[in-house]
Amino acid sequence: MHIAIVGAGNVGRTLGGRWASGGHRVDYGVRNPADPKHAELRATLLHGGQILSVRDAAAAAEVILLATPWDGTAAALQECGSLAGKIIADATNPIVLGPELLKTGLLIGHTTSGAEQIAAWSPGALVVKAFNCVGWPVMANPIFDGRPACMPICGDDPAAKRVVTSLSDELGFATFDAGALATARLLEPYGMFWIHLAFGQGWGPQFAFQLSHR
Ligand SMILES: NC(=O)c1ccc[n+]([C@@H]2O[C@H](COP(=O)([O-])OP(=O)(O)OC[C@H]3O[C@@H](n4cnc5c(N)ncnc54)[C@H](OP(=O)(O)O)[C@@H]3O)[C@@H](O)[C@H]2O)c1
Repeated sequence: MHIAIVGAGNVGRTLGGRWASGGHRVDYGVRNPADPKHAELRATLLHGGQILSVRDAAAAAEVILLATPWDGTAAALQECGSLAGKIIADATNPIVLGPELLKTGLLIGHTTSGAEQIAAWSPGALVVKAFNCVGWPVMANPIFDGRPACMPICGDDPAAKRVVTSLSDELGFATFDAGALATARLLEPYGMFWIHLAFGQGWGPQFAFQLSHR
């Protein structure tokens, strides 16, 4: 699969690196591809992956992993150009990253969600909320005591959800379909709950939730 990572930070590099190791073509869309700060990332690229402008990376990809800070998300999507028909795996949370995060909490909720806002900003794109509810160290290794962390996803397009489920399962998650895109109104607070436990309650980032059925 041809994947573009928009937001080459903790989440983008972790997921991009793992998908590339699994054989996918992974490009990174960044604001200034010539910036020397990308040298280290460039040295890790596999299978012809490139560091491109956001627009070029998005244009070539089948799936776009969106992993930008919330306050850069609208600009990044605008830079992508039309994403009609493309799958967006939306890992963002509508929060302000940084020391005030636990005080400011979620910026959007209850009657809409970041994911629905992203869908509104990207007409025709197939938005799937995914990878927002655990920290990047869990994305690096989602197996705990031999069992997978769970990964709820949601979206309105069944085929797009199947693609993202497959990409998530490949990482080792127990991925499940939580419903329509509006379910992001629940998954984003669930992501905030993980942040609260990790950094507010002092658990640190090496934990995740697992699913049990009876
Ligand atoms: N950290 C986690 O464990 C975690 C877990 C789940 C979800 N999330 C969510 O995932 C998103 C990313 O988090 P993160 O921790 O990976 O953030 P991060 O390490 O700060 O990385 C964000 C990346 O986005 C890039 N960026 C910002 N604006 C951009 C734009 N307009 N176009 C292209 N790239 C842009 C930044 O580039 P520059 O470096 O050049 O500014 C940076 O590489 C956030 O929405 C966060 O809430 C994070």
